[in-house]
Amino acid sequence: MEFVRLLLVFLHLLGMGMLVAMFFLQSRAGVGAPLNKGWLHGAALQLVTGVALVGLSPLTGKDYDHVKIGVKLLVLVVIGVLALVYARKASSPGWVPRALAGLVVVNVAVAVFWT
Ligand code: HEM
Repeated sequence: MEFVRLLLVFLHLLGMGMLVAMFFLQSRAGVGAPLNKGWLHGAALQLVTGVALVGLSPLTGKDYDHVKIGVKLLVLVVIGVLALVYARKASSPGWVPRALAGLVVVNVAVAVFWT
């Protein structure tokens, strides 16, 4: 089971890297470019791996702080809704990638500093 947890953490960290990479890809595409679908895929990966980590906690023996998880989930829902709304449009305002990246950084900070 420890291997499964480590695999999920590995994918969770790759998902975070993907979301950070999306910010730079989006910046290269320029203001007003359509929102890259990678934002949605990265957010979905974070959701699936995060929920799996929490769901498997009775088996992995990890005791996660549920308030912390709730905050991360809430931030991710905002990321997901923004990505869903703007990925459907032909162009995205300049503030959207900045807001998405800021929210990703908020979740990294919550993950690391909320002990
Ligand atoms: C943008 C979204 C997210 C980002 C950037 C993110 C980032 C991170 C990072 C950097 C870690 C490693 C922290 C450390 O080991 O000290 C982590 C761990 C974790 N995250 Fe997330 N996270 C996100 C969303 C979520 C969501 C939505 C959930 C749950 C529903 C979640 C559940 C967890 C859990 C349970 C761990 C601990 C894994 C372990 O060490 O066993 N995360 N996250």
